[in-house]
Amino acid sequence: IKQDFDRVSELTQNIIAIEDEEQNQLIEFTRAETGIRDLLDNRVKSIILEKIQALEDSSNGMVTMALISIVIAIMLAVILGIIISGYIVKPIKRLRQAVNEVEAGNLDAQFVGINDGGREGAGGRGRGRGEDGNMPSRSDKNKTSSFASEELIDLSHSFNSMTEKLKANDRMQREFLGIASHELRSPIQPILSYADLAIKGDVPYEQAVEKIFTHAIRLQNLANDILDVARIEAGQLSCVMRRVSVNRVVKDAVDSIRDNLRKDVDLEVQLLEQDVEIGLDRDRIAQVLANILGNAEKFTKKGKIRIETSRASENSLIEIRISDTGGGIPEEILPRLFEKFATKDVRGSAKQGTGLGLYISKAIINAHNGKIFAFNNPEGGATFVISLLVEQER
Ligand SMILES: Nc1ncnc2c1ncn2[C@@H]1O[C@H](COP(=O)(O)OP(=O)(O)O)[C@@H](O)[C@H]1O
Ligand SMILES: [Mg+2]
Repeated sequence: IKQDFDRVSELTQNIIAIEDEEQNQLIEFTRAETGIRDLLDNRVKSIILEKIQALEDSSNGMVTMALISIVIAIMLAVILGIIISGYIVKPIKRLRQAVNEVEAGNLDAQFVGINDGGREGAGGRGRGRGEDGNMPSRSDKNKTSSFASEELIDLSHSFNSMTEKLKANDRMQREFLGIASHELRSPIQPILSYADLAIKGDVPYEQAVEKIFTHAIRLQNLANDILDVARIEAGQLSCVMRRVSVNRVVKDAVDSIRDNLRKDVDLEVQLLEQDVEIGLDRDRIAQVLANILGNAEKFTKKGKIRIETSRASENSLIEIRISDTGGGIPEEILPRLFEKFATKDVRGSAKQGTGLGLYISKAIINAHNGKIFAFNNPEGGATFVISLLVEQER
């Protein structure tokens, strides 16, 4: 029993020892577990912290980026503003300046608003003639088309061409006024002088009246010419078309100059073999014929004036050909014969008239859709040819 008891107690001791050891191992295990858990916790924490830090850093970066973007955007806006003001606002200001100058009467003002490079500020201030070279050229237009709008470039072109036209008009008006006032004054003086002489009894009454009559007619013709030019320029030269016999019109015109012809000048008239009525303004065509026959009579000292009326082979045109054996059209004015004030002494006769007759004649023939031209004959003298349409023939 004792032996057994000892054995049992020994085994019990062993069990207790084992239990203790197990207890220790459990404690050890728990400690290790806690250690591990702490370790893991710290690691996770640090990772999370790291992540948070990274997130914070990146959000800081984004804020900075956003700030930089805003600054860049503002700078771009300012730069664009400057560019736009340079290319659009500035030219508009210059245009305004140029318009103001034109309004104030300076027709030399030029609008140089578009990329005029080194010529900044020339716009609206181009004084003095001969600055036309400042106008923006086609190549300028290509260079700047990305910025300055096409309209602005077109605007500058039309502004400058408008001032050019105004200048030309102004020049013509001055010229016209100069010549017209001289021409108007010259018949008035002899009218007054002859009237005065007749009143005083220094000149026979009849002689004075004759002279006064001649100069009064000159004055009347001049006044009519000036009024016609004004009508042509205003686009108001109206022709009242009626069906009229061609032979009748030509005959009347010839008859009205017959008395003025010099002794040594013959008049030769050839009318249409078969007369025809065409639509025309009788008074206006009579005015054209009177002017051309009047010139022929004025510039022909001796020889012949020939009027030939014919119908062209294609039947659609009537041609009136007036040729003379006078001094011939002076070469210098031949290229601008039908322009205003184209007048020149003709060999063998003193210069007379204002040079408005042929200008008015051409405008009248144009209003009839006809043609007029002139040339010098190889054998001397001049020829004028008028062609009129027969289209309204019945
Ligand atoms: N038949 C002609 N022969 C020579 N020159 C002419 C003739 N007709 C016109 N001319 C020239 O053309 C100019 C213009 O004529 P016109 O317009 O009728 O004006 P004006 O008769 O008032 O001078 C004349 O001054 C003259 O130099
Ligand atoms: Mg004339």
